[in-house]
Amino acid sequence: MNAIQTIQQRTGDTKIDIALVLGSGLAALADMLEDKTAFPYDELEGFPGYGRAGGRVSGHGSELLTGKMGNKSVAILTGREHYYEHGNAAAMRVALETVQALGAKTLLLTNSAGSLDEDVRPGNLMMLNDHINYAGMNPLIGEATDKRFVNMVDAYDSRLRELAQNIARDLDIPLSEGVYLWYSGPSFETVAEIQMGIRLGANSVGMSTAPEVIIARMLGMAVWACSGITNMGAGMANETISHTQTKNVATICAQKFQKLIPALVEAI
Ligand code: HPA
Repeated sequence: MNAIQTIQQRTGDTKIDIALVLGSGLAALADMLEDKTAFPYDELEGFPGYGRAGGRVSGHGSELLTGKMGNKSVAILTGREHYYEHGNAAAMRVALETVQALGAKTLLLTNSAGSLDEDVRPGNLMMLNDHINYAGMNPLIGEATDKRFVNMVDAYDSRLRELAQNIARDLDIPLSEGVYLWYSGPSFETVAEIQMGIRLGANSVGMSTAPEVIIARMLGMAVWACSGITNMGAGMANETISHTQTKNVATICAQKFQKLIPALVEAI
């Protein structure tokens, strides 16, 4: 049975309006959902970890949740598989195809990222308005049809960004925008790499999101993506960057996401 059938077996033909992917340390955002039905990824064919034992990244969930957020039907992917885990940039493809097939026309992506912008400090949110694919890998390699030639202009939907800016202003949440540098990880960047990123025009750096945006644009979904800034890029502050720090500071960002996202979902 494919993942769509597994989900529909329990939720009937309920349409999903919006899908949301939760980044590192942001699993608590799943509390925003009401009338939840949970599907562990390992029961959904083609999802991360299906038919494969263990090896999850700490701080990342591994369930698909469906339910209600205000007036919308929402599917939450509580965690993602990253390129750095198994070298598969298309690891989230089936999960995204599934939520799109269930009706989702909009994809909201969250992540944790390092800031390359002196003015945007840890604990704040930064929307993505573009990305630089510095991992050099593309999730559509191997896609045999002309669908693979995806236009990436305005990939980060300008209407959704404007909507989010207006909502953030009303909620008094500082919200910056910038270009996200996708690095493969899992090691953090060197100081020289961060300096290069700044010169290339990047404002944040992280190990996820860009491949999902590419897939979602191929699927015709409107994309909004936002980082919780957990640290300054390597060498920019007197601190040691670690995954523990990412998870700790992400909880501060989560409180802001918890206000911003339901209001955005309502307004879409
Ligand atoms: N680099 C890459 N990924 C990250 C960082 C970082 O500084 N912080 C959180 N995720």
